[in-house]
Amino acid sequence: MCCLNIYAREKLLPEEGFLSSDHPFNSPPIPAQPEAKRHSSTWESHRQKNGSKHLAVIRRSPGSGPHLILGQARYPVDMASTITNNVPRVLDGIAIAAQIKSELAEQVASARRLGPAPGLAVILVGEVPASQIYVRSKVKTCGELGIYSELHTPSANATTEELLDLVASLNSRDEIDGILIQLPLPQHVDTTRLLEAIAPQKDVDGFHPINAGRLLNGSPVEKVLAPCTPAGIMEILRRSGISVRGKRAVVIGRSNIVGKPLAVMLVNASATVTVCHSQTTDLAAVAREADILVAAIGRPGFVTPEMVRPGATIIDVGINRIATTEDLERFFPDDQARHASFAKRGSTLVGDVHPAAFAVSAAYTPVPGGVGALTIAMLMANTVKAARLRRG
Ligand code: GUN
Repeated sequence: MCCLNIYAREKLLPEEGFLSSDHPFNSPPIPAQPEAKRHSSTWESHRQKNGSKHLAVIRRSPGSGPHLILGQARYPVDMASTITNNVPRVLDGIAIAAQIKSELAEQVASARRLGPAPGLAVILVGEVPASQIYVRSKVKTCGELGIYSELHTPSANATTEELLDLVASLNSRDEIDGILIQLPLPQHVDTTRLLEAIAPQKDVDGFHPINAGRLLNGSPVEKVLAPCTPAGIMEILRRSGISVRGKRAVVIGRSNIVGKPLAVMLVNASATVTVCHSQTTDLAAVAREADILVAAIGRPGFVTPEMVRPGATIIDVGINRIATTEDLERFFPDDQARHASFAKRGSTLVGDVHPAAFAVSAAYTPVPGGVGALTIAMLMANTVKAARLRRG
């Protein structure tokens, strides 16, 4: 059975090494040697045993000795044993979310002994199937934790004015602590106006400019309603004992919902943070600087092994559905379980990180079962927090 999931397509070997000169494990780039004799390696025997087409290989190069080639990266062979013996830790989002929800259930039970339950109102406009699934799951989780919830389902034709009236009525009701407008909204609706109409103290998504500003100003975590996905990432790091203070964090993606607020939270936690985006020059070299590398760019398998510093923590925020056998082969060439589930469902999920890149890391969040699992738990946490902050 394969215990390591490092693999590479030999046909993708680059013309030269990709590690930057300041990479701690760098060696000078060496020209590709297609005719080079393959050094005997555990990968070769693994490949023969498993019939795998994809593997990490060790190649000899004249003048520079054997190197491990993994994706487009080359590592000195003394690093190769570190990498090939590496067993990265899986940061289990489902387990962490379960722990958070169990703590919240206790807090809700205590709150209910003293007064009304925390209450969440969810607005779902129209009938987008994916949104319906998300919302159903949010309402169900409220029930499991003892949080009061109500679902408002205006039609897809509802006007901005009608939705503003609904938000105003929810703002004025004392038993409602949190208001969530499920996105995306129909195109004719003014999303920004609606989100800004939610009373900041009931903004459990943390999207309101007042809450974004408070986060930027360094308000303590207990006092600010922060966006759920970045808040979930901070919980994964904290509960996994991965220290942020003094670390170099690189966030790939600059969305208002994930990248920007996460960068602020990491800075507030004393990390040194770089935000990368589509215009970043030599993004791979910047990414390789990271102790904590966050991929939130919405592109399947964007982060490849050569972008990862060995021993980094990888947080994969992407959830991308792939439905072609080419993509299945590209991302999961040797993963029998994925192949089986793909055959059954006709699709599978991949994050913004190529699965081969996880093998270089010390720890990573899987997809599915990583960051995504935290989002609803953090929404519940924000609802309980909003009730506590507003009611005292
Ligand atoms: N649509 C998908 N994710 C979210 C979310 O976290 N909040 C809201 N309001 N809408 C979403």
